[in-house]
Amino acid sequence: MPHKDHRVTLRPLNADDEPEFLALVAASTDLHRPWMSLPGTPPVFRAYVERYKGPDEESLLVCRRDTGAIAGLININSIIRGRFQSGSLGYAAFAPSAGRGYMSEGLDLVLHHAFGRLRLHRLEAQVQPENHASIRLVRRAGFRSEGRSPDLLFIDGAWRDHERWAITNAMAGIVPAEPHPTLPER
Ligand SMILES: CC(C)(COP(=O)(O)OP(=O)(O)OC[C@H]1O[C@@H](n2cnc3c(N)ncnc32)[C@H](O)[C@@H]1OP(=O)(O)O)[C@@H](O)C(=O)NCCC(=O)NCCS
Repeated sequence: MPHKDHRVTLRPLNADDEPEFLALVAASTDLHRPWMSLPGTPPVFRAYVERYKGPDEESLLVCRRDTGAIAGLININSIIRGRFQSGSLGYAAFAPSAGRGYMSEGLDLVLHHAFGRLRLHRLEAQVQPENHASIRLVRRAGFRSEGRSPDLLFIDGAWRDHERWAITNAMAGIVPAEPHPTLPER
């Protein structure tokens, strides 16, 4: 879907988003638990914004074009360059906007950003097998399941098995004319 048809845009999370973000997190407790834990207090939010100012991670808000409201969040974590050129995705919808396709459109924009502008080669989402909404989201976006890793991530107080869902730039059809300068020649 061309970008102009999307009902959402992406923009980086920033300090000014604090009141709206915290209100949305509070309104989304039932949706997020037990899969996702987002900052729920001002100090934790501010530390989160600081963390995402670094070069290895990006926190992107999925915003509705009609109202400007924040519909969800997609983070590109653990960006590794060199021979890997890969990033790890974390994401959540916010309850008032969930289940309407905004996250699917936002994820499509993230693929264009990550493979086009950032020139990454691969994105991975680690998803617990019981998280059906999350698996539907990545499957719809063209990710493939690469397998299951036992005790992969510490979520909701325990090490949980996760399926690794991944997509490459070639699978998405978004291959840059020039590779990222940190990619070795051979
Ligand atoms: C996973 C999660 C982000 C998915 O968010 P979402 O709001 O359901 O995703 P979308 O915005 O793409 O909406 C998709 C749903 O809207 C429906 N929909 C309505 N209009 C639509 C449209 N125009 N386009 C696409 N889907 C549309 C779809 O049928 C779909 O429902 P389905 O998944 O039951 O088939 C959300 O469930 C969530 O925040 N979960 C908790 C946090 C979490 O698990 N994070 C991931 C950890 S791995």
